[in-house]
Amino acid sequence: MKTIDDLRVAGQRVFVRADLNVPLDGTTITDDGRIRAVAPTIAKLVERGAKVIVASHLGRPKGAPDPAFSLAPAAARLGELLGRDVAFATDTVGESAASVTAALVDGQVAVLENLRFNAGETSKDDAERGAFADRLAALADLYVGDGFGAVHRKHASVYDLPKRLPHAAGDLIATEVGVLKKLTEDVRRPYVVALGGAKVSDKLAVIDQLIEKADRILVGGGMAYTFLKAKGHEVGISLLQEDQVPACREYLARAEKRGVEFVLPVDVLVAAEFPDLKTKAPAHPDTVAADGIPADKEGLDIGPKTRELYAAKLADAGTVFWNGPMGVFEHPDYAGGTRAVAQALLDSDAFTVVGGGDSAAAVRLLGFDENAFGHISTGGGASLEYLEGKTLPGLAALED
Ligand code: 3PG
Repeated sequence: MKTIDDLRVAGQRVFVRADLNVPLDGTTITDDGRIRAVAPTIAKLVERGAKVIVASHLGRPKGAPDPAFSLAPAAARLGELLGRDVAFATDTVGESAASVTAALVDGQVAVLENLRFNAGETSKDDAERGAFADRLAALADLYVGDGFGAVHRKHASVYDLPKRLPHAAGDLIATEVGVLKKLTEDVRRPYVVALGGAKVSDKLAVIDQLIEKADRILVGGGMAYTFLKAKGHEVGISLLQEDQVPACREYLARAEKRGVEFVLPVDVLVAAEFPDLKTKAPAHPDTVAADGIPADKEGLDIGPKTRELYAAKLADAGTVFWNGPMGVFEHPDYAGGTRAVAQALLDSDAFTVVGGGDSAAAVRLLGFDENAFGHISTGGGASLEYLEGKTLPGLAALED
């Protein structure tokens, strides 16, 4: 895979496919981690005299402009981080993009509006995606792929556009791939994986792979309840994917056969209602054993004994991969489990990788120093699919 250093960028129009898909509260960015992660690539291109055109998706608009998903706040934040003016085009391949990009002089930066305001970006039809990629290609001379969080998407700007322009991987993608490669090829043992998040169905494919590679798998978050059910426990009104119970049962049996420690919560915090994440009103949860969840209560975080147990299981790790919060960390009464796992990662001497998405946001929201972790990925789905061993379209396109 070529890197930026292999491209002559001075005086060239360089299209940077970034992942500026940041969480917003109205127009306020609540976690700018992804913008900070790609800013050095853009700064490097600016320094080398490129005309930089930055493009990204944000959220999942339905193929037409929708102000709620405008990239304008992200463009403004990028300008602050770069310490320079960043122009903003109010469309992707229309008049505004044409005039804003044509006006760029060497060392200047423009951000295009949300790529997903055009149906061609995410289309399943190759011709429709290709037509959009052709129009994007007309804006630039070179392509730099640096939106790691989106490389698992076969989208026009990720997959089709690099086929139309001389291309290279940006520094963020190079770093992300280097770290994930380490987890698949050259892992220091014990290799401990902590998995959380709401849906077990999102994690089964990666569990399938990790059972072959990891020494221990710790499970928390909403997905734990389907595993507890698979072990024969009642889970009250907790999140449950009944149809996935047989698959979970099979993984538990396979882990046992392979000598992989598969660790489930021994206690959980429960309440009759999901907490109010806006007011953060006190939730008054009870702590119960994992095999004693009352019929009218739902589990919302791992309990204190589980936190201790997971910390002990992480203490001697050589490598840790963590993806997904252990509970509803957005509410202070249910942040303890996620905080305990983050702290255990910091306390261990392991090489620690935090998978993107919610766990990366949780680390920052709970006030941890992100530099204290080995690597915080910007890609949630992308890092999981990489570890599943899948071919990621955005990486494959950069290889060619
Ligand atoms: C992410 O948030 O995981 C990436 O930005 C990809 O977004 P998507 O799941 O909407 O394609």
